[in-house]
Amino acid sequence: MSTPTAAGGSTATQWPAAAENLRWWDREVGYEVYIRSFADGNGDGVGDFVGLTDKLDYLAWLGIGIVWITPFYPSPMADFGYDVADYTDVDPLFGTLADFDACVAEAHRLGLRVLVDLVPNHTSDQHRWFQSSRSDPDGYWRGYYHWRDPGPGGGPPNNWVSHFGGPAWTLDEASGQYYLHLFLPEQPDLNWSNPRLVREFDQILEFWLDRHVDGFRVDVAHGLVKNMLMPDNPQRFPVTPDMSPRQAWACYDHRYDLDQAGVTAIYRRWRNIVEPRDALLLGEVYLRENNPDRVSRYVTHQDGLHRAFYFAPMHTPWEPAALWSTFRDALDAAPRDLSWALSSHDDPRAPTRLGGGALGRARALSYAVLQFALPGLPFLYQGEELALDDVDVPPQQCQDPVAVRNQNPADGRDGCRTPMPWAPGPTGGFTDADEPWLPVGRAPADTVAAQRDDPGSALAKYRELLALRRELTDLHHAELEWLTDRPAPVISFRRGDCVCALNVADDPKELALPPGRWRVAFSSQREAGPVVEGELTLEAPEGLLLVAEPGEA
Ligand code: NOJ
Repeated sequence: MSTPTAAGGSTATQWPAAAENLRWWDREVGYEVYIRSFADGNGDGVGDFVGLTDKLDYLAWLGIGIVWITPFYPSPMADFGYDVADYTDVDPLFGTLADFDACVAEAHRLGLRVLVDLVPNHTSDQHRWFQSSRSDPDGYWRGYYHWRDPGPGGGPPNNWVSHFGGPAWTLDEASGQYYLHLFLPEQPDLNWSNPRLVREFDQILEFWLDRHVDGFRVDVAHGLVKNMLMPDNPQRFPVTPDMSPRQAWACYDHRYDLDQAGVTAIYRRWRNIVEPRDALLLGEVYLRENNPDRVSRYVTHQDGLHRAFYFAPMHTPWEPAALWSTFRDALDAAPRDLSWALSSHDDPRAPTRLGGGALGRARALSYAVLQFALPGLPFLYQGEELALDDVDVPPQQCQDPVAVRNQNPADGRDGCRTPMPWAPGPTGGFTDADEPWLPVGRAPADTVAAQRDDPGSALAKYRELLALRRELTDLHHAELEWLTDRPAPVISFRRGDCVCALNVADDPKELALPPGRWRVAFSSQREAGPVVEGELTLEAPEGLLLVAEPGEA
């Protein structure tokens, strides 16, 4: 794809000289499409490519530049597509390769770029590689996975645990060996020390690039390489039976199963594949400790990932000291290479996490102002623009394996994965089926139909913010200069002619503005337009974007 033509109508030659080195993703905002829940085109209750293609004009209208589509490959759906049985096809549930091609073509026609979700850490246990690996212990495919003899005295080879609960090893009775899976037993981990496996993925990247994708979101980008001696991980706290899988996982120092030195070599290799196609590598670098120095190792080199999601903002309490350390530390470590998401298909939505109800929604919108003004690549998760909170999915309707297998809905991710509410009604305009795969569970006011023509809606606000992110080119490239410092309750910085401020206190706070006159370009709380100077009082919460009046900065 050359340059975007719709949703803003800019071309590369129009950018100012100072921005000459920008890549296309520096100017865009991304949007995560959880395909199962976006739009159902064939009436079976599950989202698909026909449904998504039909809704792309909505995303262009909204002002989105990049669409990341979660896995759609043939899969037994043990982890809803993150268990891939064939990397180069489309699961019939979602359509066909022709439907995929039509979707990409329509996206490009609308000026949208498309990222596909690459899942290189593990396959499905139904993938032919694993089937062969399992059935023939001496064969070619055995080395595609991690097989080990039982540990001394029997049992798993080491103390590694699965993200989703229980040991990270499952015994294959026939061969007497265990295989490794950092997620479900149905998701065996691939062995990236095997050069043959490495070459397989070169082909997979080329396959999708040949189908005109604009890049890849890389699943578990921090996990592909393991310490091949497989020592026990140091245990920090005892695991107790009442713990959720996440809590049990956090009891270990993941020194040997994640974030190993060799992993960045894989991205160096992939850069050589994607660069000639001008495609983006965006990694999911989900390190529990949210250590920004470690995340930055994946992106700061010319030859690493282009961008890495930084997940700390999704786990930081609404409290000045915590938010300061999240953002300041991250930007010190990686000044422009992080990707910022406040919600996703794996964690509670921002309004729910930030207090729920009107307060949660107000905080989420003000947080988005900061997210959009930071250097790096902001991503919205479908429905975030409607200020959706999580749905309380009844236990008997929960689907996420983490909830179902641990018999605890609170462990699951269903609440943030419910179908997109396009229109009022029990199926939300999402499907013609009687029953969507998860309940929609939304009030009429939550829907696209209700918000689209309402200038006071969350949708109108997010759309306004997206337009500004595109229009204010300083937000694409200007250096960040902090205007306040920790532990101030107002987090504020300047980028060129733009000032961003976020009040995270529980009461209004004053902000001293830089000299000159400033126009309120966007506020999560008040009307845009007024010109201000000197001091400004921010509501609680309030996210504010100011632009220098011409001739003032
Ligand atoms: C991260 C994905 O976002 C999540 O949904 C999935 O379960 C794991 N990776 C395993 O692929």
